[in-house]
Amino acid sequence: MKKIRIGIIGGGLMGREIASAFSRWCALTDVTVKPVLVAVADLVPETLAWFERIDSVTLLTRDYRELLASSEVDVVYVAVPHHLHESIYIDVLRAGKDLLAEKPFGMDLGSARRILAAVQETGRFVRCSSEMPFFPGGQRALAMAQSGKLGRVLEVVSGFHHSSDLDASKPANWKRVSAMCGEGGVLNDLGMHACHIPLRLGWRPSRLFAQLQKGFSQRPDGKGNMVPCDTWDNALLHTWIVVGGVDVPMRLEMKRLAPGETNSWFIEILGTEGGVRFSTADPKALHVFEGGKEQWWKRTDLGFSTPFKTVTGGIFEVGFADVIQQMWAAFLMEREGLLDGRFGCATPEEAVASHEVFAAALQSHLRGTVVTLG
Ligand SMILES: NC(=O)c1ccc[n+]([C@@H]2O[C@H](COP(=O)([O-])OP(=O)(O)OC[C@H]3O[C@@H](n4cnc5c(N)ncnc54)[C@H](O)[C@@H]3O)[C@@H](O)[C@H]2O)c1
Repeated sequence: MKKIRIGIIGGGLMGREIASAFSRWCALTDVTVKPVLVAVADLVPETLAWFERIDSVTLLTRDYRELLASSEVDVVYVAVPHHLHESIYIDVLRAGKDLLAEKPFGMDLGSARRILAAVQETGRFVRCSSEMPFFPGGQRALAMAQSGKLGRVLEVVSGFHHSSDLDASKPANWKRVSAMCGEGGVLNDLGMHACHIPLRLGWRPSRLFAQLQKGFSQRPDGKGNMVPCDTWDNALLHTWIVVGGVDVPMRLEMKRLAPGETNSWFIEILGTEGGVRFSTADPKALHVFEGGKEQWWKRTDLGFSTPFKTVTGGIFEVGFADVIQQMWAAFLMEREGLLDGRFGCATPEEAVASHEVFAAALQSHLRGTVVTLG
């Protein structure tokens, strides 16, 4: 396998997850590239120390510019708070490296557009992280929508729910502060997940009405004090898309206060002749609707039918760590020109399109009106 040398900037929750996905790359059987983690940059020495367990890492630094200056790094993955996306992503591109950028791809629409301009100016290969559609159920829902077998599309729901913010004692982090998460709050946090498949299908909202909600206005800081939390925590976006020349309602749901949910990404597409429903809350199950004299919702266990094949037995379950690895396989194979019709990661243009939806949602909530997207 061709080795691609990777640097990670931001070794927190996602930085460690990605490093772990590389460590079990041997599970993949139909890829011709292999990521090798060589460098990590993070501000926190204890965070950097975790990466000492990975033998291939030769550079651990508190200054990401040192990582970018290294000729040993081909591709950079950046997972830092949102207010740092724009400056660090653009530095990566100007350093002549390819980039897998974490969502939301800048903290607001202006920021996302400036990153896209830098992508176009430098010509680097860039994709935005969004792993949930790599679940077999997500892939099947996409394929069914593309097949045209659903008939006339009646309604679409796409969303992401979790509930960890219902715990009022949970310490605040940067994701609960607009200055670092961005004014979009939960839209920035979970919105790309909800938008990826609809945007890939060309289902960009033409107009929308948004309802945004906040949770707890302050939280403990973990050091005995309370700190303000000002981000939107739940967002319901009632949008219109055009499918086959007809206006169709599509609801995008992003919630950090969804009772009982842990990390549920879901999509439902209903048509006059068929329908499909998938949620990671029940990760093997695909629900398919069949019309006719009698109407049926059928449920099947999909097993381990990932886009990139693995040694894992077909009867086993797919989980978060697997789809993260699948997304990386897609990123690296597409970078080599070897995607061969398989599902690709979110593009910079799709990331900007998602920010156009978030910006319209903020405007809609503020004005209490329907907003038309340009
Ligand atoms: N794809 C997904 O499912 C998913 C899930 C969670 C988070 N995310 C995204 O990943 C990104 C990071 O989120 P996280 O949950 O890993 O956050 P985190 O707070 O756990 O980690 C962020 C890391 O960035 C480091 N950092 C901050 N400033 C830095 C700098 N100047 N140079 C180097 N390192 C710096 C911090 O020390 C920290 O270790 C965000 O964009 C977030 O939206 C994606």
